[in-house]
Amino acid sequence: MPPTPMFDLLFTPIFIGTMELKNRIVMPAMHTGFATAAGAVTQRLIDYYVQRADGEVGLIVVELSYVDPLGNNDQHRLAVHEDRLIPGLRRLAAAVQAAGAKVALQIGHVGRRARSAVTGFPPVAPSPIPCLGGEVPRELSVEEIAVLVDAFAQAARRAQESGFDALELHMAHGYLVHQFLSPYSNKRSDKYGGDVTGRARFAVEIVRRVRKNVGPRLPILCKISADEYINGGITLAQSQTVALMLEEAGMDAITVSGGMLESAHMITQPMAVARGCHVHLAEAMKQTVTVPVIAVGRINTPVLAEEIVREGKSDLVAMGRALIADPGLPRKAAEGKLGDICPCVGCNQGCLGRGHRHLDISCLANPRVGREKYLKIERTDSTRKVLVAGGGPAGLEAAWVAAARGHEVILCEQAETLGGRLALAALPPCKEEMGNLITYLLRQVGKQQGVTVRAPETVTLETIQRIRPDVIILATGAKLRRPRFKGIEDNAVATAEEVLRCQVRVGQRVLISGGGMVGCETADFLAQTGKEIVILTRQEGLAPNMEPRSRNLLIERLLGADVQFLTHAHITELADREVIIERGGLEERLIGIDTVVLAAGYVPDNGLSRMLDGIGLKVHCIGDCRKRGTALEAIHDGFVVGCLV
Ligand SMILES: Cc1cc2nc3c(=O)[nH]c(=O)nc-3n(C[C@H](O)[C@H](O)[C@H](O)COP(=O)(O)OP(=O)(O)OC[C@H]3O[C@@H](n4cnc5c(N)ncnc54)[C@H](O)[C@@H]3O)c2cc1C
Ligand SMILES: Cc1cc2nc3c(=O)[nH]c(=O)nc-3n(C[C@H](O)[C@H](O)[C@H](O)COP(=O)(O)O)c2cc1C
Ligand code: SF4
Repeated sequence: MPPTPMFDLLFTPIFIGTMELKNRIVMPAMHTGFATAAGAVTQRLIDYYVQRADGEVGLIVVELSYVDPLGNNDQHRLAVHEDRLIPGLRRLAAAVQAAGAKVALQIGHVGRRARSAVTGFPPVAPSPIPCLGGEVPRELSVEEIAVLVDAFAQAARRAQESGFDALELHMAHGYLVHQFLSPYSNKRSDKYGGDVTGRARFAVEIVRRVRKNVGPRLPILCKISADEYINGGITLAQSQTVALMLEEAGMDAITVSGGMLESAHMITQPMAVARGCHVHLAEAMKQTVTVPVIAVGRINTPVLAEEIVREGKSDLVAMGRALIADPGLPRKAAEGKLGDICPCVGCNQGCLGRGHRHLDISCLANPRVGREKYLKIERTDSTRKVLVAGGGPAGLEAAWVAAARGHEVILCEQAETLGGRLALAALPPCKEEMGNLITYLLRQVGKQQGVTVRAPETVTLETIQRIRPDVIILATGAKLRRPRFKGIEDNAVATAEEVLRCQVRVGQRVLISGGGMVGCETADFLAQTGKEIVILTRQEGLAPNMEPRSRNLLIERLLGADVQFLTHAHITELADREVIIERGGLEERLIGIDTVVLAAGYVPDNGLSRMLDGIGLKVHCIGDCRKRGTALEAIHDGFVVGCLV
């Protein structure tokens, strides 16, 4: 079937060097943590990429693979530094090709971002300047640089022998080649430092040596951070000069990214960063080089992707997290089924957030990531009547998955609208995209003929006796914890939820009790209206469990709005416009507080579950009512239970 005319350009074939791609959608390199501890390919890794190839993406760039043992910073990073890795890489390349996509391998070295805990040696870099929070690296000698150029060339040869259609050289994101390119991290006074030409020498030598090793036909892509977004860092103008040198050396396409560790939010941008944030860099690069340009950076809908190509800002678009969230995105776009695309909301919670904790990746919106082979929606032979109590993300996911398997599902939600607290999650500034996930879940539920939604309807013992389900799924969420302190009953306090829903009047001076994500986001919400805010937290820091890149931007906004933070502190007594607190063991008084807002955490709302003990029915408790967590655990629980019942 020809693709919908809406995406004419996105689905027009294109050549990168000798390689023809069936469409302009590229899956950029993304570390998964699915390789073995020795950096070898696993079946899990193959299944993950094959699922994306099945979704009709044009080109998959397989995650960064290190060319040298010192170029690694993760226990389960893919490797390409030894010939013994070739058989696994060969299986991977062949499987992706068999599924219909072209496949490239990204090769690189993390340089000063390596960790001695992983490699057993101090990191190496152009200059002995540590990256943010990193170890002081050892400066590479000219002889060692030559060895590394050779390591890239050997790795390229291995990729070619493994059957990859192309290669991508990682020259971005503050890794080794980028460290050479950057005036911020390269302070050398020899031929590998100094002006742009000196700093680009390493990159150019790599392209030349790789080209020599792989011959004229294998396409070489280079990924660069065209702007480091820091003072004293690489500028677009410098990157344009570098790009011309790379093109001259043998590069066939350029992926235009941005950022480095000190501006990490521009590498893998949280939802607070604008969609398509690096497109202007790609557009400028298109005026500079003659090879195809690939734009990357929060391009998370096919509509945006098509617009970028249509406006001539890039030749191809890389959609990374969007393809983690929905591997079928290209196919659904071609078929015009836009509402069925499971959206990447830019939360970074499952993918990058877990990667940073050196865990394998997953996804807030897509529980199947990394479990493609065994976590599937399969039709059931024995239809059951399933009652789902609670229409938050856990209940919605469980309901549509169970119905898609053929069960008869009754979903009851006590509120008038569905979405649960995920609807609240979309209310603070920069969080609107959370709403896309609700829209998606509602559509999935709406599409299933087997689901009957009853809202508002509270599930009680009587409801259960009336409906007589075979299985009950409790997805009743969590309740706001109400702290105990003197005066809480006699004075007006609001909850964070009431504030976010604009259900209460909030005075000018506000004290927020609780410095977790909900407290901080409520402060962010109120700060927009010019309130004076103090956040009180018992903890050492704010929102400690939040994904770090989103957290950093949130805290920056709070600081910008003059929000005050009092740590190791809690309220002991509330009187009229006066709050007595204990901070670091000492009593203090805060005068002139107009409104106290409670955001002191949540406790599972599992009362119904206790009532159902011994009732003789199969009861599953999922999401926050099982264990206080996030929407990620709620959706994952919902999917798994939907597949199990
Ligand atoms: C301000 C805010 C920001 C957040 N930001 C994020 C974020 O960025 N990322 C993230 O992952 N998570 C975030 N969360 C947390 C996330 O919203 C929750 O973890 C998630 O909604 C839990 O899903 P759930 O389905 O288990 O429960 P809920 O979303 O709480 O849904 C439970 C539903 O059950 C209904 N219910 C309860 N009892 C009954 C009954 N007896 N009968 C019928 N219905 C009943 C409730 O009305 C509710 O609609 C945020 C939360 C808040 C408040
Ligand atoms: C989990 C994860 C791992 C990543 N690993 C790599 C990598 O190995 N090499 C690379 O060049 N970029 C890596 N990136 C960055 C992406 O390739 C891409 O540039 C970035 O996510 C922005 O694109 P997106 O918004 O389409 O996801 C990673 C991103 C994520 C989310
Ligand atoms: S975890 Fe969040 S950012 Fe990562 S792919 Fe999934 S939805 Fe996108």
